[in-house]
Amino acid sequence: MPAIPTEPALFSAFPLLRGRIPFRPLGRFPTRIHRLEGAVAPSVDLWIKRDDESGLEYGGNKVRKLEFLLAEAAERGFARLCTLGGYGSHHVLATALYGRACGFSVEAVVFPQPITDHVRDVLLAGAACGLRLRPAASYADLPPRLVAARLRRGVGWIAPGGSSPTGTLGYVSAGLELAAQTRAGECPPFDDLYVALGSCGTAAGLALGLALGGLAARVVAVRVVDRLVCNLSATKRLFRATARRIERQGREGALPPPPGADRLAVDHRFYGGGYGVASDEAQQAVAAAARAGLMLEPTYTGKAFAALCADARDGLLDGRRVLFWNTFSSVDPAALLAQSPGPEALPPRLRRLFDSSRSA
Ligand SMILES: Cc1ncc(COP(=O)(O)O)c(C=O)c1O
Repeated sequence: MPAIPTEPALFSAFPLLRGRIPFRPLGRFPTRIHRLEGAVAPSVDLWIKRDDESGLEYGGNKVRKLEFLLAEAAERGFARLCTLGGYGSHHVLATALYGRACGFSVEAVVFPQPITDHVRDVLLAGAACGLRLRPAASYADLPPRLVAARLRRGVGWIAPGGSSPTGTLGYVSAGLELAAQTRAGECPPFDDLYVALGSCGTAAGLALGLALGGLAARVVAVRVVDRLVCNLSATKRLFRATARRIERQGREGALPPPPGADRLAVDHRFYGGGYGVASDEAQQAVAAAARAGLMLEPTYTGKAFAALCADARDGLLDGRRVLFWNTFSSVDPAALLAQSPGPEALPPRLRRLFDSSRSA
């Protein structure tokens, strides 16, 4: 079990930032890193970074972002928070759970996505955390709800996916954590690092953290959201905005230039026709990962792993050291679900999703 650190890798690397950037510890870091045997051909040296274990009650990639986001919201004096995500958004659930633990009341505007049992479980778990949902009927129905939510006075706004420059600091810190683990000999330096690309904060933060930590790995960000909001330019913009945020807080020295193609690439091949669509490739990748003892899901990590498997099959990763960054919580949701008040606590539009028998 990794030691509980006293501070994030960001502050250990840049002590000037301590006390200047609000931070509240929520998770268990550093997360483990180890080899993963049997998922792809032995010609690929495959490792896994276990951010699925980043939190006791709920893990995945949102914990690192919320450590900075919730601390900033508290410093600004907010008691209520609002955010945005799909009906089954892990980000919305994590914000509700950790937000409640920090004393915030949390609400979210949510939009439709393909309904699976996993989405229903996320909704029930959110209800267990006292989350108030404002469901849109369609994408067209979103703008007025968003405008209304953002105009409410005294309510702090948390960016979708937690991917503001502040939330992205969590993954700058993650990149620096990997650099520290590499220096300590816990893992070798990697050639490629595969991760899902949604609201772009995880990949942008990692690319910046690796550059600051002196690692040369290429981040392969696998797109799982519509290209309009999820793309290379958006990721680079967030990289630059987060770098400026660090610079403003007094880090000395030149910041890394925006990453070139050797440091950051977006793979569009596995989008699978829509956000949350469980494509055949994603489902096959989830099954291949399960055979190697790794639990993934088809919306994010299944698509990222499908890209890695395809590149391995095509021989593109032969002889390379590859890291798969697991961003999906592996914490058993049973305890949270046991506390859920049930579908009756949800708004009617979402309650209806439980009417038909459970499937998928
Ligand atoms: C399991 C999982 N992986 C990856 C992502 C994508 O991360 P980001 O939104 O930072 O691009 C998300 C976002 O919700 C997620 O829930």
